[in-house]
Amino acid sequence: MAELDCWHVGRAPEGAGRNTGVVALAAGERAQDGPVVPLFDALDGVARRAPRVEITLPVYRGKALVRLLGWLAVHRLAEPGAEISWWMTKRQGPASIQRMLAESGWRLEKERGGGGLVRLRGTGPEDAEDEGAPVPRSFAARVGARELTFSADYGVFSPERVDDGTDLLLQVALDGPPVSRLADIGVGYGALAVGLVANGVAGSAVGTDVDAIALWLARENARRAGVELTPLLSAEPADAEPTPLTVCNVPTHLDADETRAFMASLVARGRAGRLLAVVHASLERRYAAHLAPLGALRTHPGPSHVVFETAR
Ligand SMILES: C[S@@+](CC[C@H](N)C(=O)[O-])C[C@H]1O[C@@H](n2cnc3c(N)ncnc32)[C@H](O)[C@@H]1O
Repeated sequence: MAELDCWHVGRAPEGAGRNTGVVALAAGERAQDGPVVPLFDALDGVARRAPRVEITLPVYRGKALVRLLGWLAVHRLAEPGAEISWWMTKRQGPASIQRMLAESGWRLEKERGGGGLVRLRGTGPEDAEDEGAPVPRSFAARVGARELTFSADYGVFSPERVDDGTDLLLQVALDGPPVSRLADIGVGYGALAVGLVANGVAGSAVGTDVDAIALWLARENARRAGVELTPLLSAEPADAEPTPLTVCNVPTHLDADETRAFMASLVARGRAGRLLAVVHASLERRYAAHLAPLGALRTHPGPSHVVFETAR
């Protein structure tokens, strides 16, 4: 690692898809010049700190994320006295974010950033004591025989409670035979992977997601429950190794091309092992058509969702 000019936070380098919360190391000006360090690794610490940190604040993530990214910048990424910039749109409320950061010792000047963006530029709090990363919101839930605590925050799917579709899939999977390893495609904060491994349905899990913040929460939830979970930042289900069981609470907001590719990849996983996938009941026919290449499917209808299962 020759020169290290800057850490870029929250901006996906070209080719990294829609990954959110990615940290990219740039030896030059551009985020895409450097390798990608997923947020969940960066929060554990990086090999070298930099004299400059540029944070692009993701939208729809809530103000709590400002505290997490501020902590990351000051305690993990920045050299002492480093220049730290926050980039955002006017709609994200730069004045209130500036006030909020000032209250915890940041000194930031507001500038026009170009392209409709606002830049808050300055330094983090001096001699800030590291009290650990801010604690995300969490809730308790019973999954099978285990009482679990799930951290779920910063705009991840279903932050208050286990989603009904997730719950239906859990019920079906908890009744199934135990396997050595499972893949949870679109793991979110980890309700399926953590819940199933904690109950002995699988020995360990790999969880994919395009959202690095969700993957960080999943990893923290797994650690707390004593569960072995490998987080994988990827939009491609095939990037997780073949596993005897794949579970998926299907992301149904993808566009048509993404959905086709995603579902074709789930079909491939369903050929290699047992597949359990859940969608809202109103989408049953559409997603059954995507899974048709797998032949006859068992369905497990619930009050609002349906689980598809590859025939055993
Ligand atoms: C309906 S949520 C389910 C989350 C979690 N499994 C649960 O049951 O609470 C779908 C998840 O898929 C993720 N996602 C979207 N596109 C994806 C893709 N191409 N590959 C993997 N995950 C994806 C979203 O970020 C989201 O976390």
